Amino acid sequence: MKSEEVIDMKLYIEKDYEQMSKLAAKLIADKVHSKENCVLGLATGSTPIGTYKELIKQYQAGTLSFAKVKTVNLDEYYGLEPEHEQSYAYFMRDNLFNHIDLPQDAFRLPSGTAKNIEEECKDYEKHIEALGGVDLQLLGIGHNGHIGFNEPAASFALYTHQTYLDERTIEANTRFFASKDEVPTQAITMGIGTIMKAGEIILLASGKDKADIIQRLLEGDTVNPMLPASILKLHPHVHVIVDEAAASLLKSCCKSSTCHLH
Ligand code: PGA
Repeated sequence: MKSEEVIDMKLYIEKDYEQMSKLAAKLIADKVHSKENCVLGLATGSTPIGTYKELIKQYQAGTLSFAKVKTVNLDEYYGLEPEHEQSYAYFMRDNLFNHIDLPQDAFRLPSGTAKNIEEECKDYEKHIEALGGVDLQLLGIGHNGHIGFNEPAASFALYTHQTYLDERTIEANTRFFASKDEVPTQAITMGIGTIMKAGEIILLASGKDKADIIQRLLEGDTVNPMLPASILKLHPHVHVIVDEAAASLLKSCCKSSTCHLH
């Protein structure tokens, strides 16, 4: 494992998806152990599934308990009931919550079917605040640089809000639905401001198809809402954990243990 500072971001280049997942799970478990009543911010998508599997293994081995943990999720599709198989509520139950000792009332996702979405967004922010804020937020990254469903835009959204999905996101997420037409076109997402308030952040990326966005994020422009993840350069405590494939377009100097340029 190599790690080096990237502006304020700490970059870890792991051999493969499995090693990336193990390191992410270790950082999450360390947080749960070190902070009583810890609040985790969770993510969906293919990337964190391996991390969740590792956390489940630790729970099954008796070395990790979520009994005192609270969780909030980044986002949910607009219009999908929590029972819908492609909803993020379903995803979280299926990939994590049903397999650990997290109490039934200890997790929350934005509701994609609330009668008053604006109220739901405000309430979601209040809920996070009432929990004392997110201690550790897990993030994936879209091919377009989105985090949560904060798509490239003219400005950064501060709070939880309803938003349209980028065409590229709809295409990427079509793989989970029977056809592209079934992918919801809107979602409720934490804002960039909500994410930035987390005490610590882990951003994960795996595979060659993420190499371009990781290169742009780490070696490209400075902070720019057209690459939403670039805001993380202003956060004091970010771990970027990638596998070798996702790091494959980084300059060779960036991969050396002496590089502090980027
Ligand atoms: P993925 O999605 O993990 O399925 O690649 C990441 C994201 O869109 O944030």
